[in-house]
Amino acid sequence: MTSPQAPSGAPRPKLPPPESSSPPEGPIHRALLPDTSAITADGHLSVGGVDLLLLAEDVGTPVFVYDEDHMRNRCREAAQGFEAGVAYATKAFLCKAMATLALEEKMALDVSTGGELAVALAGGATGERLVCHGNNKSSEELAAALSVGVGRIVIDSFDEIGRLRALSTAGVASGSASHRPRLLVRVTPGIEAHTHEYVKTGQEDTKFGFSLASGAAAEAVDALRHLADFELVGVHAHIGSQIFEVSAFAEEIAALAPFVVENRFTECCIGGGLGVAYVEGEVAPSITEWARAVHSAARTVGLPLTVRVTAEPGRAVVASAAVTLYRVGTIKRLPGLRTYIAVDGGMSDNPRPVLYGSGYEAFLPRAPLAPRPLAARLVGKHCESGDVIVDDARLPCDLAVGDVLATPVTGAYGFAMSSNYNRVLRPPVVFVSGGRSRVVVRRETVADLLARET
Ligand code: LLP
Repeated sequence: MTSPQAPSGAPRPKLPPPESSSPPEGPIHRALLPDTSAITADGHLSVGGVDLLLLAEDVGTPVFVYDEDHMRNRCREAAQGFEAGVAYATKAFLCKAMATLALEEKMALDVSTGGELAVALAGGATGERLVCHGNNKSSEELAAALSVGVGRIVIDSFDEIGRLRALSTAGVASGSASHRPRLLVRVTPGIEAHTHEYVKTGQEDTKFGFSLASGAAAEAVDALRHLADFELVGVHAHIGSQIFEVSAFAEEIAALAPFVVENRFTECCIGGGLGVAYVEGEVAPSITEWARAVHSAARTVGLPLTVRVTAEPGRAVVASAAVTLYRVGTIKRLPGLRTYIAVDGGMSDNPRPVLYGSGYEAFLPRAPLAPRPLAARLVGKHCESGDVIVDDARLPCDLAVGDVLATPVTGAYGFAMSSNYNRVLRPPVVFVSGGRSRVVVRRETVADLLARET
């Protein structure tokens, strides 16, 4: 499908450069918008050369709009910054088109369930380019991964080692000697990253991995060395998500290094977790800066150059690539209290504010350069008061019912965690690039909603 493009001609106003910062009531900040954002001759916002208002007319709202070039740029940064084999963490956002895009840009894919494995394969992944994760992989999931010649499995528990041993004995795991699946042992390095409680994973008190400090990790290594059909190659850790300080990753490397050296490992994966800016005033390191900091820490702590230091970013690849377009349906001004603006989506397409108290911005794609003096609470259409998308949104004063409203930086863990709460139909996903748009996931229908009912 091709969306009609805005006419070109007269010189267009430009978005301010990403470096400048604006007050909360100023226009939406450039750094929060997808890379290819521009202003059309009509003064609307376009992404990938596609006018967002025309797109909303075309496909309806709500809709997730992803800037394909933006995601390709981030994948390339990751593939250049880390050695070959850097994996895209598909949990952040996965559909067949995304799997294909990340593979085309030389990334491997990290999958953490049988469902993610199936979508990755449908998107063109071969076993060799898959990294299989999960703290509670079932025998069926492990067998499915082995049957496609999975490249790497990250081992998370003694129970999982038992399951792999049983699959080996049953002959499910026996590949050719040159294609033995590689194993990494997931460890908890005992690092407290500064992020939300629910997305911290590096500390000792966690369901993930084996503790380095208690000796469980060393025990797991012993058991894995005795496992036939597999090759133990390295260590894996993931200290949390939405982390802004690269020093936390340097600490992680320092905690992992002795274990890597002691076991003569050749691979050391630091997981994902690089933060992104969601709201005005936040600044996050780029993937390139992150990779440099990690490699420099590896040299500082004396990791041998032969060790492949790699990572698996999710959020940093996709978060700011997308905007969600909604339509304003109701405006309620409560005198002396606040203004509520309700749109046609909500916590079913973005549960992050209600889950983690995450902040977002909002703006009108018909006037992206307009000041936003109106303070209002942006809410969805779900039947509970917690259904808040932006608690303290700033918007232009002439906002009206019927306006298309956008929330930027919604590319990670939005579509991925979307639900049918209140039997709301999940929005489509549209990729835009070079003046064209394509629906890569169609809008859900009532028939989809009823499809599993007997
Ligand atoms: N690797 C492992 C083993 C992970 O558990 C995760 C994320 C990643 C990589 C990717 O992390 P990222 O680069 O995306 O931070 N739903 C939460 C985030 C949960 C992250 C879970 N694991 C949110 O919306 O903030």
